[in-house]
Amino acid sequence: MTDKKHRSGEWFARDGKYGFLPRSWMKSQGFSSEMLDGRPVIGICNTWSELTNCNRNLRELAEHVKRGVLMAGGFPLEFPVTSMGEPFMRPTTMMFRNLVSMDVEETIRANPIDGVVLLAGCDKTTPALLMGAASCDVPTILVSSGPMLNGRFRGRELGSGTDMFRLDEEYRTGKLSKAELSDAEAAMSRSAGSCMTMGTASTMASSAEAMGITLPMNGTIPAPDSRRSVLAEQSGKRIVELVNEGVTISKILTRSAFENAVKVTGAIGGSTNAVLHLIALAGRLGVDFTLEDWDHLGREVPTLVDLKPAGRFLMEEFFDAGGLPVVMKRISALLNLDALTVSGITIGEQIASAVCYDDEVIRTLDRPLTSDGGLMVLRGNLAPNGAVMKPSAASPRLMQHRGRAIVFKDAEDFRARIDDPDLDVDADSVLVLQNAGPRGYPGMPEVGSMALPKKLLARGVTDMVRVSDARMSGTAFGTVVLHVAPESAIGGPLALVRTGDIVVLDAHARRLDIDVGAEELERRRATLQLPPPAFERGYGKMFIDHVQQADKGADFDFLVGGSGTPPSKVSF
Ligand code: FES
Repeated sequence: MTDKKHRSGEWFARDGKYGFLPRSWMKSQGFSSEMLDGRPVIGICNTWSELTNCNRNLRELAEHVKRGVLMAGGFPLEFPVTSMGEPFMRPTTMMFRNLVSMDVEETIRANPIDGVVLLAGCDKTTPALLMGAASCDVPTILVSSGPMLNGRFRGRELGSGTDMFRLDEEYRTGKLSKAELSDAEAAMSRSAGSCMTMGTASTMASSAEAMGITLPMNGTIPAPDSRRSVLAEQSGKRIVELVNEGVTISKILTRSAFENAVKVTGAIGGSTNAVLHLIALAGRLGVDFTLEDWDHLGREVPTLVDLKPAGRFLMEEFFDAGGLPVVMKRISALLNLDALTVSGITIGEQIASAVCYDDEVIRTLDRPLTSDGGLMVLRGNLAPNGAVMKPSAASPRLMQHRGRAIVFKDAEDFRARIDDPDLDVDADSVLVLQNAGPRGYPGMPEVGSMALPKKLLARGVTDMVRVSDARMSGTAFGTVVLHVAPESAIGGPLALVRTGDIVVLDAHARRLDIDVGAEELERRRATLQLPPPAFERGYGKMFIDHVQQADKGADFDFLVGGSGTPPSKVSF
């Protein structure tokens, strides 16, 4: 046992008592000396949890990964990291993304691991795991849990989240009974897997595929489909080869890969959350990739995928139509085709043989769902450091709009007053939400798509302009301006808006302003009282003290960059 060609050899290939301890304790699990004799050790980083339904098939998928690792001569070792279930965690999963990335980073670095397969699914689990692995720069492949089966309810397809918002509106306006709503709950989520709309989970799994950090079709194969097990097996086989070839994550996630991800996010009508996650991920890798890139790279990209929330279909249809390789082939003129993938070939080679089986689900270039599908970055006196909107989810008539602000000082104030019959609001009003940003809430909850006032819903109003420093669920829709930076809780201009001010949105000109003079804004600033911090101790305090603004991806200031996996001090 003298082979130290792999990092794990620093543990298992040491002589005498120094190697005895790690080898002996491994043997207690029933592993033979043969397993410990120079095989690359593959960590299988698992976010399985009964608190994260979307990831509940990952235990089973881990077994398929292990088979692939063994097939290729590696030694698989599965380990848990903190999971994050979107529907449960309070105040919001986004507050824990950075914490989980630290869990992943430190677990990889502290242990005899040569390469990792990341098992993720629910929204934040994907960026958290990629960010952690990126800061270690080990060979890495992501395997997603996959989208759940389409929801079906009384002859009608139900898309995760998206149809929940519609059902809620029907319930609030008396069109749906409580019992019917309860039946719909069971019908919407009927299998393991992540949301099957083009929400954040599907967007992140697809953008990871676009960046080449997964095997092809990772983004779309349904969670219960046996072909996902095959993908897991093949990912296990391939990670061993990547370790032997010395292909680390930074060789895959290059600037070219991020550029491809921006374009693919536009082409699939992806979630605004991708903006935050990919900027934060690039920061870990030292890749120069900014909020501005989202705007200028996304400008000429048409949305081709006709999926909810922007379109009609769901992830099962997307998979059956040929999946992401078809989309990438159709926009190949916009892509960096020479970007390397974990398959060992370029992304151009990977998508060359893609065939479309349904042009209704994956539209052709001459018949896009939206011609300008990329996410927009707005600036103006209301958002000096930027704000984000998703044009494919917005109403074209509201893209240029002047309206009277109705200001809510926080999410609780919004919930308390939005359905008040006396609220002075009409269809042209602009709903403005303050103190829901990275530090203010804290954690930027997905409350930016503020539900419309009940009395306007009853009158048939379906969309209004909404502005906040919050995020929006990838499954939501509407003319919603998000991620306003700097946020109101640190004194950004959003904090100075008062009910009655005129808000001016000109999405085509990429502008977001309030029609209030600079002198008046300064007067208001002089008397502005910032809200007290929500936490005085623990992780919450660390989050508030170190989280950066939305335009920086809301990563911690001290986590930007990576430390690799240098030889550590040996405690034994
Ligand atoms: Fe987990 Fe949507 S709630 S993926």
